[in-house]
Amino acid sequence: MPHSARIWNYFLGGKDNYPIDRQVADQFSAFYPPIVDVARAQRHFLARAVRYLAGEAGIRQFLDIGTGLPTVDNTHEIAQRVAPQARIVYVDNDPLVLMHARALLTSHPDGVTAYVDADLHDTSTVLAGAARTLDFTRPVGLTMLGILGHIPDYNEARAIVRRLLDAVPSGSYLAISDGTNVFSGTPLDEAMQVWNASADPSYALRTPQQIAHYFEDLELLEPGVVSVPLWRPDPSPFEPAEVDTFGGMGKKP
Ligand SMILES: C[S@@+](CC[C@H](N)C(=O)[O-])C[C@H]1O[C@@H](n2cnc3c(N)ncnc32)[C@H](O)[C@@H]1O
Repeated sequence: MPHSARIWNYFLGGKDNYPIDRQVADQFSAFYPPIVDVARAQRHFLARAVRYLAGEAGIRQFLDIGTGLPTVDNTHEIAQRVAPQARIVYVDNDPLVLMHARALLTSHPDGVTAYVDADLHDTSTVLAGAARTLDFTRPVGLTMLGILGHIPDYNEARAIVRRLLDAVPSGSYLAISDGTNVFSGTPLDEAMQVWNASADPSYALRTPQQIAHYFEDLELLEPGVVSVPLWRPDPSPFEPAEVDTFGGMGKKP
C-alpha cells in the first residue's frame, strides 16, 4: 500500500519510495501540482522553527513526531548546527523510516539522536521511548509537522496534543503545521480524494482555526498561525508565496 512517508519523500524529490507510492503521488499532483511547493514550504518551516528553538529560545531537547524519511536538513542537523549538545528523538511508525533511521542517528558527538518506532495514537509508548533520551524535567521542543492530519478525528488529535503537552514542563515549545484548503479549492479536494482512496494513513485537511486551537493553552508566538512561508520568513528580496499549509509555535507557560 502507498504510504505517507514515502509519498512525501517523492514530493520532496527523494528516492526512498516505491512505484506504488509514485503512482498515487503522480495522480495527486495531476490534480494539485502545488503539492511540491507545500512539501518544501513545510520543510523550510521546520528549519526556521528548529533554528529559532535552538537559538533564541535556548532549547536543547527536541521531540520530532512524524519525522518522515531522512532528507537534506533533518531536525538534529539544524539544531546541532546551532547547539551541538542538542538531544533529538525522532518518532515515526512507518517501517521504511525505521529502516532508514541510521541516517537520522548521525549525531554530533556532543549531542544525541535516537529513534522511536511508535504510533502517535499511543502517546505513552511515544513518551516512554523519548524519556530514554530526553529529560522531561527540562524544556522540550515538540515538533509535529504534517502528522496531525493523519489522525482522522480532530478531537482525538487535540487530546493527543494535550497528553504530550501535559508530559513536558513549563518553558517547552510546540510547533505544528498541517494541510488546509484556504486558497486551493476543488483541485486540492479532488487530490485529497485520491490520497484517501489509496494511501495509508488517510489525511484530513483542517481549517486554520482548528490548527490554532492546538495552541489554546500555550502562549502563541508571533505571527500566530499562518500559512507557513509567512512564519518568520528568512530575509529575501522575494515575497513568500502562501501555500495551503498553516502552522505556528506556542510556549507552555
Ligand atoms: C506528511 S509526512 C511529514 C514528514 C515531516 N514531518 C515533514 O514535514 O516533512 C507525515 C509523517 O507522519 C508519519 N505518521 C503518520 N501517522 C503516524 C502515526 N499515527 N504515528 C507515527 N507516525 C505517523 C508518516 O509515516 C510520515 O512519515
